[in-house]
Amino acid sequence: MKKKDHVIIFDTTLRDGEQCPGASMGLHEKLQVARQLERLNVDIIEAGFPAASPGDFEAVSRVAAVTKKCRIAGLARCVKSDIDACVAALKPAGRRARIHVFLATSAIHRQFKLKKAKDEIVRQAVEHVKYARQFCKDVQFSPEDASRTEPEFLAEVVRAVIAAGATTINIPDTVGFTVPNEFRKLLNYLHEHVPELKDVTVHVHCHDDLGLAVANSLAAIESGARGVECTINGLGERAGNCSLEEIAMALKVRGDHYGVQTQINTQELYPTSRLVSQLTGMLVQRNKAIVGANAFAHESGIHQDGILKNRETYEIMRPEDVGVVTGTDLVLGKHSGRAGFAAHLRRMGIRVDSKQLQTVYDAFIALADKKKVVYDDDIIELLREHVSEIPKVYAIRRLQVSAGNQTIPTATVQIEKSGEITQDSATGVGPVEAAFKAIERITGIRGSLVSFGMQAVTHGEDALGEASIQVRFGKDLVAAKGSDIDIVMAAAKAYVSAMNRHLFNRTESAKEEG
Ligand code: KIV
Ligand code: ZN
Repeated sequence: MKKKDHVIIFDTTLRDGEQCPGASMGLHEKLQVARQLERLNVDIIEAGFPAASPGDFEAVSRVAAVTKKCRIAGLARCVKSDIDACVAALKPAGRRARIHVFLATSAIHRQFKLKKAKDEIVRQAVEHVKYARQFCKDVQFSPEDASRTEPEFLAEVVRAVIAAGATTINIPDTVGFTVPNEFRKLLNYLHEHVPELKDVTVHVHCHDDLGLAVANSLAAIESGARGVECTINGLGERAGNCSLEEIAMALKVRGDHYGVQTQINTQELYPTSRLVSQLTGMLVQRNKAIVGANAFAHESGIHQDGILKNRETYEIMRPEDVGVVTGTDLVLGKHSGRAGFAAHLRRMGIRVDSKQLQTVYDAFIALADKKKVVYDDDIIELLREHVSEIPKVYAIRRLQVSAGNQTIPTATVQIEKSGEITQDSATGVGPVEAAFKAIERITGIRGSLVSFGMQAVTHGEDALGEASIQVRFGKDLVAAKGSDIDIVMAAAKAYVSAMNRHLFNRTESAKEEG
């Protein structure tokens, strides 16, 4: 039994987050995220919507199997076969399973989407909560579009589903329409008119269409909500969901005001954000609160002066509290020895075996030869690139491009596969497309680029450029990153990495099928 001042963190990165346009993940990526969410110590992982597709079913089932402590939720419409799919997919979670049943309640959804009258909505909600309870003790009900539902009707639905056995009631602001004061009043109204709410847990699920998801969730906590549904980097349908890192740090930094706490291991926030960004290919904006590259950067002289005198003049939390390691950046590392480099990695909280250490040290020396200052973020990029679980079937060895407004962009690429180097050239509308086409000619694998983004990993003219791409290979949509001082090379590395990931996914699916 959790204490009254405990706020449950219900992470829905793998379900609502994955509904974010362009952020879908394969099974392997989902399992990596789930393992990291356990390190972050979230209470509940919503692993997917099992009835939506065989891939979603598989993901929920595998997440349920690989996790050990978190509760695992699966989403279901008020449809018996959806609940059956949840029950089957959640089996490996045993007593950690939660069935999350939802049905829209607002007038606009009743009239246009469901074409159902109020009494039919209540009847369906009750019937399916009862059905889910036959299989699982932990049943959550969400009246979709609750914030635009008539409060009296919302209270009627909530009362009925609690009587039917729902153990958690989630109040979603599905379209991100509400504002903090109004949401607070809605929760107060429900507590007043449905006294049974005190026997269940109340969650909120806020979307960020007006940029208010975190503010609305905080307001709901002031009105007694004890569960917040959120996602890493605020990913989610349309403008996204309440951001997990922001709500967790707001409750930690302003514990004096809210008087509640989460069990989040906040030092895992930054690593989790980086992992999700890497696996989804969704860049994090530089000025994003908590996990953006500028979140702890102080530009103005007055601020820098204050920080040097006392960090708290301009810092309300320490970077290390959220897992950002600072103040340990290496300067001109080509003279740094292997042992010093290994000690530095340990200070950054990174563990590698001796083979990985050698690989990343060689890459570090090569980078330090080209770059004035090697930052910790550069090292994180090197680790991502060189110490990955995905086998490097192809590796890019050389790239030469000729581009400009008077030339036909042409790229010549050398790719290594099993120790053998192949070279080819291609032209394109720009040097990046030319490089991608040359890579395709060599590998014989054709992908279609879904999204492409580029940002500097660190600062300065010699900063590493990081390319984030999403590529579709048939049905397989993969995200990958590549970094290099040369931005065309960064893009080419990302493309080769996407191909390696695709080959890995193909082998894994083949293993699972047969
Ligand atoms: O936004 C929403 O209403 C949802 C529900 C399924 C909880 O995602
Ligand atoms: Zn949602």
